Amino acid sequence: MDYNLTPWEAKGNFDYERIIKDFGISRIDAKLLNRIEVAAKKKGLPLHHMLRRGIFFAHRDIGWFLDEFGKGNDVFLYTGRGPSGKVHLGHLVPLLFTKYLQDLFGAELYLQFTDDEKFLFKKELSLEDVRKYTEDNILDTMAIGFDLKKTKIIIDTKHAGLLYPEAIRVAKKITFSTVKASFGFDNETNIGSIFFTAMQAVPAFLPSVLKKRNIPCLIPHAVDQDPHFRVTRDILPKLGYYKPASIQCMFLPSLLGVESESKMSSSIDNGIYLSDDEKAVRKKINKYAFSGGQATVDEHRKKGGNPEVDIPYIWLTFFEEDDNKLKKIHDDYKSGKLLSGEIKKIIADKLVFILNEIKERKEKLRHKLKEIMGSLDKSF
Ligand code: TRP
Repeated sequence: MDYNLTPWEAKGNFDYERIIKDFGISRIDAKLLNRIEVAAKKKGLPLHHMLRRGIFFAHRDIGWFLDEFGKGNDVFLYTGRGPSGKVHLGHLVPLLFTKYLQDLFGAELYLQFTDDEKFLFKKELSLEDVRKYTEDNILDTMAIGFDLKKTKIIIDTKHAGLLYPEAIRVAKKITFSTVKASFGFDNETNIGSIFFTAMQAVPAFLPSVLKKRNIPCLIPHAVDQDPHFRVTRDILPKLGYYKPASIQCMFLPSLLGVESESKMSSSIDNGIYLSDDEKAVRKKINKYAFSGGQATVDEHRKKGGNPEVDIPYIWLTFFEEDDNKLKKIHDDYKSGKLLSGEIKKIIADKLVFILNEIKERKEKLRHKLKEIMGSLDKSF
């Protein structure tokens, strides 16, 4: 089964082993996990469950980044969000993990909101639409619990004066044939889109520019963004900066199932949004979640369910931190003790809990929006 994976299109059955090969990224091995665990322990943190379960599965140069951090050198994190709509659960996965990394490294985080990108790549979106989503997405993102003092928000069109001089330094070293090959562009692609990867490269070295010294960067992101950073890593040494390290996660599969050929996406309306209320979350899960259970209760009790394809179970591997709890759910589901409706309730309860926490924090942050959006302006 084939796949098509660029930052703007994700289709097919994702064979992550093949993606590792095709992209030239490295699998996170036991030795690396151990190094991360040792660093986490010093902060009283466990090894994150998304690392324990291989959801964050690949990287570039994490070893180097950990070396630099271990020497006591200043480091920073960079991730981002394309504000093309409301934030959904799929977006939450790398963001939750980034919050963990911020706690682990005690580092500054640069969060890029690529309003330019979404305007350029989405025919149906006006710049006004994108700006509206940007503000809402910033609140949702910060409500995950990032350290307000250590997090800088970059909004591409707002901070253009800061980003553009750096972006053109990058752009001058990238040819059309490189972006064609990396992103699948053709002669019909608008010229803003062709330029865009230069904008996404900038935060990977912006702190080094602002602070006038080279600072190692780690970029946590969903694997579809890797082509940007492959290009970025080629260029930055030519400009005198470090190559950024990166760490990649898998996609949260759509409610419709792993075989439905999709990740959770805003373009289909069964996605679960951070803004959904409890009723909506429960309804979507009950109505759409692909089940690995049997057709009748009797049959399920006899034969048991299949957690491997069951979306409520797979989603629990993303969102339930407790390994023991997860194992019991797995075993009980497989033996037929736990029914489909029951496992749906378990994931719904968990999601409602997570979303409620985010919603509460979001309301508290609302009056600080201006200050948050100006966080970068104070740093130079
Ligand atoms: N292009 C990303 C998106 O569409 C947003 C983004 C910008 C990003 N910079 C990033 C994502 C760095 C991960 C890491 O969502």
